[in-house]
Amino acid sequence: MKLEGKIAAVTGGGAGIGEGIVKCLAEEGADVAVIDIRKDNAEKVSADVKAKGRRSLAIIANVTEKDQADYTLKQILDTFGRIDILVNNVGGESKFYYEEPGIDYSEEREWDDTIRLNLRATMLMTRAVAPLFVNQKSGKIVNISSIGGRPMAGGPPHGGGMSGNEATLSPMTSYGVAKAGVIQFSRLTALQLAPYNINVNCICPGVLYTPLYERSAPRRIKSTPGAEGLSYREYFDKYVASRVPLGREQTPEDIGRVVVFLSSEEARNITGQSINVDGGLTP
Ligand SMILES: NC(=O)c1ccc[n+]([C@@H]2O[C@H](COP(=O)([O-])OP(=O)(O)OC[C@H]3O[C@@H](n4cnc5c(N)ncnc54)[C@H](O)[C@@H]3O)[C@@H](O)[C@H]2O)c1
Repeated sequence: MKLEGKIAAVTGGGAGIGEGIVKCLAEEGADVAVIDIRKDNAEKVSADVKAKGRRSLAIIANVTEKDQADYTLKQILDTFGRIDILVNNVGGESKFYYEEPGIDYSEEREWDDTIRLNLRATMLMTRAVAPLFVNQKSGKIVNISSIGGRPMAGGPPHGGGMSGNEATLSPMTSYGVAKAGVIQFSRLTALQLAPYNINVNCICPGVLYTPLYERSAPRRIKSTPGAEGLSYREYFDKYVASRVPLGREQTPEDIGRVVVFLSSEEARNITGQSINVDGGLTP
């Protein structure tokens, strides 16, 4: 096992990609703190880790808030006495994407909310853990960005663009900017922390059928000509078949296995990198 005896923490570990990451870390021998804003999610996934014979702690916290990010670190240290691996997975589209389908994407509140969820959460957790990693002269940080943070030929997918109104930003703009920020944040913190034997890397997942995807499906279907009447899953499968060069979806475990590699000694000379796990979608 690659991570025997290591203590890991995964933000947003209670569902979707985070859940897959937690599972893969535990299967490689790590004890895992599952941090999630939703109690039911965190407790379920934490119980799954224990069922695999590992130690686990469910921490209910909103990691976009500084005091709550700091609280998660305190909880981990009180329980496990140390931390070796931090996975910053919390992120996604702003809640306004789902709650207010008519929102103008040039509005500051949509912009601020997206930056907060993706970039501020990553910064706060990194800032909380960095002094510990520096002291112990070891540590692994893996940040979850998105292919949405890469340059996209032909404009954003899923009915992006300017939506017929040249003065209004696309729904993908704030998300893409936030995720590009996560890529650059990973690079810069990697350089800053490298002298202390700390590796910081980033993963850009492609297309995964998670709760996040399901929440956004109605909007995606509505903005794609000819997609009306398709189920969420049919729409997703059609998209994957027509766009992903390898012709298959990515799974949370696909992402989890790369997290395991980047957190292991096998990757000790890899830092500051961002790796697409997208079936070839991004050139
Ligand atoms: N699903 C995809 O296709 C896809 C593609 C590329 C990148 N990503 C990125 O992967 C990451 C995970 O995506 P997902 O699809 O699994 O998301 P998801 O919404 O399905 O699951 C996210 C989990 O995080 C928790 N969470 C949300 N806000 C939180 C907060 N403030 N503090 C603590 N926990 C919080 C939720 O309760 C949930 O359990 C995100 O950063 C997302 O942007 C997803």
